[in-house]
Amino acid sequence: MPPQSGRRFVITGANSGVGFQAARILGSRGAEIVMACRNLEKGEEAARQVPGYDAGRVVVRRLDVADLSSVRAFAADFLADHDGLDVLVNNAGVLGAPLGLTGDGIETHFATNHLGHFALTNLLLPALRDRVVVTGSREHRRGEIDLEDLVWDRRPYKAFAAYGQSKLANLLFMTELHQRLTAAGSDVRAVGAHPGASSTHITSGSGNPVLTWVGYHGAKLVSMPAWRGALCTVYAATMDIPGDTYIGPHGRLEMHGWPSAARRSRSARDAELGRRLWEVSEKLSGVTFPLG
Ligand SMILES: NC(=O)c1ccc[n+]([C@@H]2O[C@H](COP(=O)([O-])OP(=O)(O)OC[C@H]3O[C@@H](n4cnc5c(N)ncnc54)[C@H](OP(=O)(O)O)[C@@H]3O)[C@@H](O)[C@H]2O)c1
Repeated sequence: MPPQSGRRFVITGANSGVGFQAARILGSRGAEIVMACRNLEKGEEAARQVPGYDAGRVVVRRLDVADLSSVRAFAADFLADHDGLDVLVNNAGVLGAPLGLTGDGIETHFATNHLGHFALTNLLLPALRDRVVVTGSREHRRGEIDLEDLVWDRRPYKAFAAYGQSKLANLLFMTELHQRLTAAGSDVRAVGAHPGASSTHITSGSGNPVLTWVGYHGAKLVSMPAWRGALCTVYAATMDIPGDTYIGPHGRLEMHGWPSAARRSRSARDAELGRRLWEVSEKLSGVTFPLG
């Protein structure tokens, strides 16, 4: 990785797992980092372990990405205080949440993993100089999007299906965003990464102690340490790759290994679905593409 001195990053969900490890790696290369966390105490505790914190290069700001008013407040404060942003890393995520709606009336996985990041990206876009990194998952391949029933009224709710739906949305968003940026004559790129199977706290919001335990301790048996998963994020965030590139671990089933080109499902390449998702996301979030 080239030195990152003088480059500013925003990383959502940077207090834990992949986001935290990505912050540590980028911090060690001189990056300026805004750690966007919903819990400031946890954020500060994590930030103290990121190289550059003592030098004032690493700061924590409050962002609950599942709350659109928090997303708007974060973006407004950030734009007021900074002259630009090099890289936005849309990393925060939940897996296994029971059926529930956010205060904005959006299903939890869709709100956290997709819609909040959709709004955040478009709000920060006027300041963006280099790229947006979306975080996908191998689970996107099992995901199906029902744009008519995003709140699971007409389908039996399954948490992993809701996660897959949100992760498919992440990849459709990446491609549609990159196309829009290109059409608007912008040099900003939209790229993506997934960390394979990485040992993190991703199932801690499930409310299910068994799933939470298995998700963290059990996963250690088959997963990479979070820092290795974070290499895919960091690669996508710093290396000279074309827009709409998706990075994941090179090994079997993309579970382990070093950063490499990752595969996408046919649905993730469905341009019409991506366009419709964009329209629905604009309507639900009230945020539109600012460069159109
Ligand atoms: N681990 C894997 O094997 C794997 C595989 C594929 C994709 N991913 C993706 O990797 C990303 C990072 O997850 P992880 O595995 O590193 O899990 P993690 O350790 O649980 O980290 C997730 C982070 O997201 C934050 N977060 C959750 N909801 C939020 C909200 N409403 N607002 C702001 N922050 C919020 C969490 O904050 P709190 O600490 O406050 O909860 C935490 O900092 C996710 O997008 C996930 O889907 C992970």
